[in-house]
Amino acid sequence: MYNITLIKGDGIGPEISDAVVDIIDSTGLKINWDECLAGLKAVEKFNCTIPIETINSIEKNRVILKAPVTTPIGEGFRSINVEIRKRFNLYANIRPSKNYPNIKTPFDNVDLVIIRENTEDIYAGIENRIDNNTIHGIKLTTKDASLKIARAAFNYAIKNKRNEVCVVTKANISKLADGLFLDCFREVAKNYSNIKTREILVDNLCMQLVQNPSQFDVLVMPNLYGDIVSDLCAGLIGGLGLAKSANIGDDCAMFEAVHGSAPDIANKGIANPSALLGSAVMMLDYLGEKTCARKIEQALFEVLREGRVLTPDLKGNSTTKEFKDEIIKKIVKK
Ligand code: NAI
Repeated sequence: MYNITLIKGDGIGPEISDAVVDIIDSTGLKINWDECLAGLKAVEKFNCTIPIETINSIEKNRVILKAPVTTPIGEGFRSINVEIRKRFNLYANIRPSKNYPNIKTPFDNVDLVIIRENTEDIYAGIENRIDNNTIHGIKLTTKDASLKIARAAFNYAIKNKRNEVCVVTKANISKLADGLFLDCFREVAKNYSNIKTREILVDNLCMQLVQNPSQFDVLVMPNLYGDIVSDLCAGLIGGLGLAKSANIGDDCAMFEAVHGSAPDIANKGIANPSALLGSAVMMLDYLGEKTCARKIEQALFEVLREGRVLTPDLKGNSTTKEFKDEIIKKIVKK
């Protein structure tokens, strides 16, 4: 029996997390879902974004499945994701982008993984008002975090039989901060002589990604570029409804979809749960539940391949529940 902290989040969060929990439970794997609040709902109930109950649950369980939470834009409380990633030092954000069966996109050979540094950069939230017309925003970069994320990228490449790690920076402009990130990458690379390396500037990367994404394998980059480029990569494989991710630390991990709380489609019952489901599959792999992970993955692929029951973002007209039920049908048949 696993104990997992479940944060259902805001907007479409509860709809997609209920679907994902039902799908995992249908495999017969025994999970005690420790449901906790964070974000808007926690503010409404406890007047705080991450209540102590939630922190205690994460401290105890060390594994979190988290649906998206709403973060006020330009004002209000800091992002819950950023808080949790920093508090539990979940320094590596792993974001794979690979084509799904029968999801038509301009490219059919995308198979890349973004390893995003998850604790620094502008996400450190260090901004100072100099005067009414001037703000200084600090891009925090440390040697310690840059070495750690470079090692995480090379270790990921080895574990997953990947051939190349490419470091992404803007070190021609950010000579000190991105310069340090690049230097750390080069230092770590010396210990992984069996993995090819490459260096690219982030603007060039974006252009290359929309022209020829199959040339990329593992990409490691600072926090902000990773955030933006991974949405671009989600677009390459069929949209945000499909993009999964894992936030990994040394002894704690959080699994969440790349997308946000999608307020424009919340409570309509039409959100695609695949991104959170894919993240949950990454969680099962992390827990060593490979058979269960493959069973769910294959069931999802089968439903996509058949193309009869799809949510509107995938050009279908089915509801979240119909999509979920179809996946469960495949799982119980196996
Ligand atoms: P968003 O990712 O929520 O939505 C962007 C577009 O993609 C919308 O049109 C939405 O309907 C669509 N979309 C997203 N997920 C989908 C799904 N599963 N199925 C079908 N369509 C889907 O981005 P937006 O609107 O910029 O942000 C909304 C809120 O989410 C903000 O408060 C933001 O701060 C928060 N956010 C939270 C994240 C998290 O908790 N990990 C990550 C990103 C944003």
